[in-house]
Amino acid sequence: MNTMKPSSSTKTFVLALFTTAMAFSSSCAQQVGGRGLPPEAREQIHALFDAHAKIRRDLKLTADGYTALTESDDPKVAAALKKHVGQMQARLGGGLSVRRWDPAFAEYCDHYDEMEHQFTPTDKGVRMTVKGRTANAVKIAQNHAKVVSDFAAHGWSEHDKKHDTVTR
Ligand code: HEM
Repeated sequence: MNTMKPSSSTKTFVLALFTTAMAFSSSCAQQVGGRGLPPEAREQIHALFDAHAKIRRDLKLTADGYTALTESDDPKVAAALKKHVGQMQARLGGGLSVRRWDPAFAEYCDHYDEMEHQFTPTDKGVRMTVKGRTANAVKIAQNHAKVVSDFAAHGWSEHDKKHDTVTR
């Protein structure tokens, strides 16, 4: 009698197919048990919350996104801002999420590849220009920019808050 037991090569093939499918479907939304924020990224974020009173941010919404200038007269805080933005760009550009439990961040991550980010370091911080390529991406980018403004304005009291989505 043929018990139809899968051979080990069949199992390997199925596993390979599954792994490939996961790799190609790895939008932020599908990350399960993904890697947490590395300590060096958390360190910058905590430094920014600690120093939020020394940070000034000028946010201007545009028809297709926004521009924001975020600076500090304290060179250490200016350096933390630059490092933070670089770290976050690398992380989201690589398909990894942050603050997945916060709806606005989950939505931001899911639409990240529909945005163009132009990041320019300044003497005292960072200038960011973001353009959305879809109507939703424009709204989502602007929403994220407002959350960053709230972080900068209120510091730690904003840290544990969930922020609303704009398209779902
Ligand atoms: C006081 C706290 C914080 C400050 C001052 C700050 C500042 C900034 C600035 C200036 C940008 C560049 C984009 C823009 O100017 O609109 C940015 C981007 C970003 N931040 Fe923060 N941030 C803070 C907290 C956080 C936290 C808690 C998270 C999540 C764990 C976070 C995640 C991100 C992400 C995902 C980006 C997008 C990077 C990109 O555009 O590629 N930030 N932040």
